[in-house]
Amino acid sequence: MSNIVFDNVKKSFDSGLQVLKGVSLTVSKGESHIILGRSGCGKSVLLKCLLSIFELSDGDIFVDGISVRDKKRRHEYMRKFSILFQGNALFDSMTILENVMFGIKQLGKKTAECKDIAKEKLEAVGLDKTVFDLYPAEISGGMQKRAALARAIAIEPEILLFDEPTSGLDPITGGMICNLLRDTVRKLNVTALTITHDLKVAEFLADRASVLNEGNIVWTGHTKDMKNCGNDFVEDFYRASNVILDKKLN
Ligand SMILES: Nc1ncnc2c1ncn2[C@@H]1O[C@H](COP(=O)(O)OP(=O)(O)OP(=O)(O)O)[C@@H](O)[C@H]1O
Ligand SMILES: [Mg+2]
Repeated sequence: MSNIVFDNVKKSFDSGLQVLKGVSLTVSKGESHIILGRSGCGKSVLLKCLLSIFELSDGDIFVDGISVRDKKRRHEYMRKFSILFQGNALFDSMTILENVMFGIKQLGKKTAECKDIAKEKLEAVGLDKTVFDLYPAEISGGMQKRAALARAIAIEPEILLFDEPTSGLDPITGGMICNLLRDTVRKLNVTALTITHDLKVAEFLADRASVLNEGNIVWTGHTKDMKNCGNDFVEDFYRASNVILDKKLN
């Protein structure tokens, strides 16, 4: 298990836009933490900073004490993560089984062993052999999400990152995926960090949540305490989420 420390992270772009203005946050080992915020507030930028896709403008990020800026330890740093991307990021030209085998092969294991591990992981996320030899376009969005999760856990990461895990799925499938993610995080005993604008996902998956607004974390706490936390933005976000959900149900 790993812990993640964001230390006064700032990120600006050449356009002059300052997206992150000093984000500080510690995600403890074994915790499931959610970062919530409106569209465009910088959630994906923060995730890309963590994954060293973007260089920080200031501040630092540590994973088990290893800095994202430490190029010599980059491999060791990156090895700790697996990410479930919003669009699943499965390879279209590979079968479901090959997709899951791909990551395991990078670890230097033999093909037969990769195949056995991939099958075991696919079964663990509820996919059976009827889909192993199909291509991503031939299975449903929910199944693709399961396959992407199998690929993410196959390399036995210490940290799982989930980017908008239920977007694009109908509410029932989204609920099933949320259940699967929660069970998987518990079973593997990993640290999990999820970014979403969906309060229901947060309430279901998180031990604790942080709310990102205008470049800063404006609140961190248990989702059950959001409603009356005393921060106007957070309380409005909570109320608006519930109004939208109520309307959807009617
Ligand atoms: N490579 C980039 N260059 C310049 N600006 C960028 C870049 N990537 C993101 N931004 C800007 O940073 C801001 C935050 O974007 P980001 O994608 O992090 O939002 P988000 O919170 O993930 O939103 P959503 O919930 O819609 O996914 C936006 O204004 C976006 O235009
Ligand atoms: Mg985003």
